[in-house]
Amino acid sequence: MYGTWADRIEKGLPQMNHKSKSKSDAVWQLRAPGPEDYSRVAELADQLGYPSTAQEIRSRLEGMRDSDQYAVYVAELPEGKIAGWIGVSIFRTVAADPCAEITGLVVDSDARSLGIGSALVQIAEEWARSRRCNAISVRSNVKRDGAHRFYERHGFQHIKTQKAFRKDLAASEVAAEVSSSATKDSQTQLHRVSSSANIKGDAPRNLPYET
Ligand SMILES: CC(C)(COP(=O)(O)OP(=O)(O)OC[C@H]1O[C@@H](n2cnc3c(N)ncnc32)[C@H](O)[C@@H]1OP(=O)(O)O)[C@@H](O)C(=O)NCCC(=O)NCCS
Repeated sequence: MYGTWADRIEKGLPQMNHKSKSKSDAVWQLRAPGPEDYSRVAELADQLGYPSTAQEIRSRLEGMRDSDQYAVYVAELPEGKIAGWIGVSIFRTVAADPCAEITGLVVDSDARSLGIGSALVQIAEEWARSRRCNAISVRSNVKRDGAHRFYERHGFQHIKTQKAFRKDLAASEVAAEVSSSATKDSQTQLHRVSSSANIKGDAPRNLPYET
């Protein structure tokens, strides 16, 4: 059960019941997600371009229980609907000091331009400061022009453009298996490859990720 969010308040997280006022006078609440929110968080992940199930969201959040390293906030509208979410975490490297990184941000297409995205970024920044980070960054697909303007309006500077590389380890495992069984008879090879393919097919979706 993902039940440790209450502990986060005790650990000094930024105001969990922070309220913001939108341009249209609507008020929303920023808080940590609970199990009742997982399916809605998943729907919004879909809008971000990463189709997910509620179970996948649960499992990912369970891996983010360390509130010194990770924070997730949802924006809840007065009627109880979740209109957006943000994920932020500490990014650690050997070569540079830790800094905070926004790992996902999305606002429902029906609730955009109300200030919700801004409020989510603001609370992520507060969390980053509370974790002694001197900077907060975000990696955003070059296709997301609108989001880039949004970040620049919030003081983020475009510092560089990168190429992202990725190797699918499950696929290379299948290739290695085929290669190692090259001396075996063709019937056996066929069986081994199709077994691996089934295992891969049942595994959670693993899309290349950049926000
Ligand atoms: C980017 C996003 C989170 C902003 O959320 P939001 O609640 O609409 O943000 P706010 O209301 O606080 O600010 C809106 C402002 O951001 C800028 N902006 C945001 N999205 C924009 C877009 N697609 N095109 C142009 N400007 C955009 C505009 O300046 C806009 O101001 P305006 O409404 O007066 O024109 C939201 O558009 C979204 O979820 N986009 C799809 C997912 C995405 O790209 N996420 C970021 C991944 S890095």
